[in-house]
Amino acid sequence: MKATLVIKNIDNLITLRGENKARTLDDMKDIGIINNGIIALSGEKIIYVGEGDLPSHIEVDENTTILDGKGKTVTPGLIDSHTHLVHGGSRENELAMKLKGKSYLEILAAGGGIHSTVKATKEATFDELYEKAKKSLDIMLSYGVTTVEAKSGYGIDDFSTEIKQLEVAKKLNEDHPVDIVSTFMGAHAIPVRYKNNPDAFVDIIIEDMLPKVAEKNLAKFCDVFCEEGVFSIDQSRRILQAAKEHGMGLKLHADEIEPLGGAELAAELNCITADHLIAASDKGIKEMAKKGVIANLLPGTSFNLQTGKFARARKILEEGVAIALSTDYNPGSCPTENLQLIMSFASLIMKLTPEEVITAVTINGAAALGLGEKVGSIEVDKQGDIVIFDAPNLEYIIYHFGINHVDKVIKNGKLVYDSKLTRINNN
Ligand code: NIG
Ligand code: FE
Repeated sequence: MKATLVIKNIDNLITLRGENKARTLDDMKDIGIINNGIIALSGEKIIYVGEGDLPSHIEVDENTTILDGKGKTVTPGLIDSHTHLVHGGSRENELAMKLKGKSYLEILAAGGGIHSTVKATKEATFDELYEKAKKSLDIMLSYGVTTVEAKSGYGIDDFSTEIKQLEVAKKLNEDHPVDIVSTFMGAHAIPVRYKNNPDAFVDIIIEDMLPKVAEKNLAKFCDVFCEEGVFSIDQSRRILQAAKEHGMGLKLHADEIEPLGGAELAAELNCITADHLIAASDKGIKEMAKKGVIANLLPGTSFNLQTGKFARARKILEEGVAIALSTDYNPGSCPTENLQLIMSFASLIMKLTPEEVITAVTINGAAALGLGEKVGSIEVDKQGDIVIFDAPNLEYIIYHFGINHVDKVIKNGKLVYDSKLTRINNN
């Protein structure tokens, strides 16, 4: 078989080989490290992973791209499995309010927060949203991210804006190297005009919006912001049950700020992930473990909300729940595309080991999107999504925080990012 791309002499090859499902505590320890590793790809797929040289049945010729992994750490492409990628505007105006002690929910209740992004997203054209999201995707790719989840939710009762967001994500998925998985999140805030009758909006989501999103095949998942003053447990349950009937996978913004019982609901409904979980109860965590719900933790949001509260990651792991880690990239509670920074937060603040962190942003991130068979590890027949870090080991990437350690990114077997090409060399 002929190789189109080979990475050889890899000092520290982190394969994450093993089962293609979300891994829990003990299974997160072995990340499949190969020293002096070598990888061969043919077209979009990985055809060989091993140590030393290539076996004789893999041919290399003058058309094969050869990359050198000396001094490098190589991992599967990173997966950011929770973002609000497509949106208009930004919310730096909230910084002053935050510094004066206004909380996220106070800003939202006063008609700001998500509502101000709804306005900006409504006003933006398809092309404006596309260009803005593309810029973010380029940044994510440069940080080693090769698969991203993207939620709607900045149209809410303006359904055409919800559809516009999902169509931008669909087009970017076609045009951009990064793969995008879409989630419908019309239930992201109670629209101001439904303030006194939120159930009427829930009815509209169930009766009008969900059937249309499903018919147009615009979203693989459905998500709800289940929170005090936003969607209640009962409303969230009704929406997600309806989404399930349309064949969508289920996700839930659960117990982000107040302990409403979101973790319990995610377990009851067999959600694929429950996200945030900062205020999740012991009971909720146990029920998630029983049902195999993945905890998608977002420490960048805790950092940015400045409440000093982070999800109890060690407790969650020790109860037997698998963890994924994501940015939550959005203009309000986490305006950053930098998943490497989130990896450092997860380790330094939530006390996850480097092995747990890398598992959470690769194979567990893949499982959080139902893509465990395709991506998330470096193994034969998997998609050729690979990151070459200019770092001697994984600990170094997490410890030397806040900067970008990526040297090169390979997506679907092609070299799509090279940090050296971004600097103008005029001495
Ligand atoms: O995950 N919590 C709801 N959604 C986002 C924030 C969105 C926004 O503030 O615009 C989150 O934190
Ligand atoms: Fe979110």
